[in-house]
Amino acid sequence: MSDQLLQQILLEARTHNGWLAETIDDATLRRLYEALRLGPTAANTVPARIVFVKSPEAKERLRPCLAPGNVEKTMSAPVTAIIAYDTRFHDKMPKLFPARPTMGETFAAMPPEQRDFFLLQNASLQAGYLILAARALGLDCGPMAGFDREKVDAAFFADVPWRSILLINLGHGDPAKLYPRNPRLDFEEACRIA
Ligand SMILES: Cc1cc2nc3c(=O)[nH]c(=O)nc-3n(C[C@H](O)[C@H](O)[C@H](O)COP(=O)(O)O)c2cc1C
Repeated sequence: MSDQLLQQILLEARTHNGWLAETIDDATLRRLYEALRLGPTAANTVPARIVFVKSPEAKERLRPCLAPGNVEKTMSAPVTAIIAYDTRFHDKMPKLFPARPTMGETFAAMPPEQRDFFLLQNASLQAGYLILAARALGLDCGPMAGFDREKVDAAFFADVPWRSILLINLGHGDPAKLYPRNPRLDFEEACRIA
């Protein structure tokens, strides 16, 4: 990886709270999805589902689901991605893992606790891939856990068995609205080489 790409996706990238008045076209959202979907997930289950909230009507539907501190930044973002997981992810396994046709049945029989962890683990990884892919495409991100999952699921997923886990604002960030960068842990604090 070139130094420049590492700067762009991690070393210099920031979490944004304010947005410049530039929209994101649907073709860019498609490019974003086509990149993030290739990130690895367990048994290629790719359980994340995404709603790109873009229209004023859909933004208004999102508003009452947001924690107060997240309202302004979300309403002003060009796009807010709702990251969810599909509790019926196993239905797609014949397409996703054709070499093992019974894989879907194995996942369908998974105990609920194990299944919740599996879905959260893999969909969260996909949310991370979305952030890195968005940054590589020149977009900025603002991930947020501060929202009411039940309300989001009722407002957006009445017709599908999807469960929201994270919101990610997308756009071109306004550097004037950045908070100071907080420190990270040093290698010695966070890592061991065993
Ligand atoms: C899972 C997750 C949940 C977050 N939830 C919120 C949130 O609800 N509201 C908010 O303003 N920031 C939220 N953040 C932003 C973090 O505080 C921010 O990414 C972190 O402090 C690092 O900032 P930096 O990337 O600018 O260094 C969240 C970030 C993540 C990854």
